[in-house]
Amino acid sequence: MTLQLGDIVPDFTQESTHGTIHFHEWIGDSWAVLFSHPKDFTPVCTTELGEVARLKPEFDKRNVKVIALSVDDVASHQGWISDIEETQHVKMNYPILADPDRKVSNLYGMIHPNANDTLTVRAVFIIDPNKRLRLTLTYPASTGRNFEEILRVIDSLQLTDNYSVATPANWKDGDDCVVVPSIPTEEAKAKFPKGIKELKPYLRLTPQPNR
Ligand code: BEZ
Repeated sequence: MTLQLGDIVPDFTQESTHGTIHFHEWIGDSWAVLFSHPKDFTPVCTTELGEVARLKPEFDKRNVKVIALSVDDVASHQGWISDIEETQHVKMNYPILADPDRKVSNLYGMIHPNANDTLTVRAVFIIDPNKRLRLTLTYPASTGRNFEEILRVIDSLQLTDNYSVATPANWKDGDDCVVVPSIPTEEAKAKFPKGIKELKPYLRLTPQPNR
């Protein structure tokens, strides 16, 4: 069954480079980003894993744990980590799940047989502390992901969970937000003391409320 936004994500127990992971317990009270790679010792994946290691302090700031998955085993991952650290000039600071039996890949629908019947696509799952799926992305093997975009979505999710706003196209932390349509303008004026700009009755902007 396809995983859909709002679903509780499947729990699993699987080995990783940081030992056995009981997934829901590992997430605990944090947010989580689970992202898959087609295979160990592949060039695009090597750059992606290095980039996430570099951005780890940004994920930490947002109370987000990151975990990668590749279908090879832990011994293979350990060899690959040496290459990642050497070529990307980072210290690998988060776990890589081993998935040689494709247990997690199949649970999360990461193998798209018409693209490749044994390797995973580049999937991303953002999961909240209630273990609910909040975003999925699927990229082809040939295109490395933009992890700044993943951070941007997390900023939006964490903001909009706490305030009656949504975030417009290309929004980034600090930009004006959209007042959600369910709030009448008079009520919005009271709720957002920094002011409302009404372009249309359905299109109202307000400065980011938690800034
Ligand atoms: C890569 O990570 O470089 C890659 C993996 C599978 C197919 C193409 C590229």
